[in-house]
Order: sequence, then C-alpha cells, then structure tokens
Amino acid sequence: MSWWSHLDPNRVALAPSVLGADLARLADEIAEVEAGGADLLHLDVMDGHFVPNLTFGPDVCKAIAQNSKLPLDAHLMTTNPGDFLENYLEAGCHGLTIHAEAVEDAPAMLARIRELGGQAGLALNPDREISEWGPVWERLGLLLVMSVFPGFCGQSFHPEVLPKLEAARELRAAKGLKFAISIDGGIGPANAGICRKAGADILVAASSIFGQKDRASALAGLRLAAEEP
Ligand code: DX5
Ligand code: ZN
Repeated sequence: MSWWSHLDPNRVALAPSVLGADLARLADEIAEVEAGGADLLHLDVMDGHFVPNLTFGPDVCKAIAQNSKLPLDAHLMTTNPGDFLENYLEAGCHGLTIHAEAVEDAPAMLARIRELGGQAGLALNPDREISEWGPVWERLGLLLVMSVFPGFCGQSFHPEVLPKLEAARELRAAKGLKFAISIDGGIGPANAGICRKAGADILVAASSIFGQKDRASALAGLRLAAEEP
C-alpha cells in the first residue's frame, strides 16, 4: 500500500519543500505548514556532486521526522544514493526518490528501496522523457517530474514539462498502475492549475509557501489555484 494511499485522489496534495524554510526555526516552520494543510513534506537532499549545492542528510531528516506526523519524501539529488538508502529510511523517511542519471541501474535501485520498505520514487529532469524508462513503472510509487533543473529553490518553472505529466497519467491508466505523479520546481498559484489539469497529484513548492509570511494562506491559495475548474 502506498503511503499516499490515504490521500484523496480528487484533492490535490501539497508538499512543502523544507529547503525553503527558515532552517534555524525548522520545527516551528514544519508545525506551521502541518497546521496549515500540508499533506506531506518534501526533503531536498543535495550532495554538492550530483547538483552544485549542499543541503542536509539523514540526521536532519530524522529531526524532521521527530517533529512531524506528515509522510516524508526524500528527494535524493545525490551521486550514489544507494549508499544511504537504509539511513534515510531509518531516519523516518517514507519515500525515497532517486534521479535515474545518478545510478547505473534505476530499476534495480527502485526494487531495492521497495524491499527495504520504502516507497520508490523516480525523478526526471526536464530533459528526460517518459519513454526512456520502460522497465521502471511497475516498481514505482512516485514519479517526480522536475520542472526546473535541480539544485536550487526559486527557479522559474519550465512549462515544456507539462506534456510529461499528461503522458505519465496516460501511461499509468493504460498499465493499470497506481503511482503518484508529482511536480517540483517553480510551482506557485500561477501554474498550479495547469499542473493539476495536466495530471499532477502532488505539488512540491518551497518559495511559494515558505516565501509567504502566512504559510496557511499560501497553502490555501495554492490549493485553490490548483483546484480551480
Ligand atoms: C530543486 C528542488 C526543489 C526546490 C523547489 O532542486 O528539488 O524541491 O526546493 O523550490 P521552489 O518551489 O522554490 O522552486
Ligand atoms: Zn525537490
């Protein structure tokens, strides 16, 4: 059973990326988004190799897990993510999302995440296509469509990835699968609606949530924009 299976498919799920939070007040920041209607937390792990930025590792994930009841998806922007899968799962992460470019055998790595009891996620950079990943779909809990090249918060949304959401939704229906479709990068009220209509179940956002003084109203605004008919 997927950890997001408790989520209502008719209601968009919002995943604040804690990278956008005031890290000196992380517990309070998490409490604010949790009370304000977040459905899960997105943890951006960067190693300074796979992407040109450094963030945090399993210890900070553990601290977050101890301060939140929300499911945690660790977005591993790291070279050799396989070296630390157990550490992130032991830290309390529910889902581990890897970049296919970072590993030799993405299907095997996804299978390993599942064997270890985690939800297996695959992230696709803006220049990667759905058609490249034939063997992975049956093993997937989550597809993370990147709408920026990873590394930093606050980048501009790449609208050319929208057809990838549609393609993923079609592929999921055609194969009778249940993986969640998530989008990450430059998401805010201006594009939440088109992302949702194109097929996103989960919207990841840092700046448009933590960049607002009132996080509950930022979440409400994002949800409203996403669900506008
Ligand atoms: C980018 C990260 C994103 C980022 C989103 O490398 O994977 O999750 O934190 O930040 P915004 O919402 O500001 O684009
Ligand atoms: Zn991310």
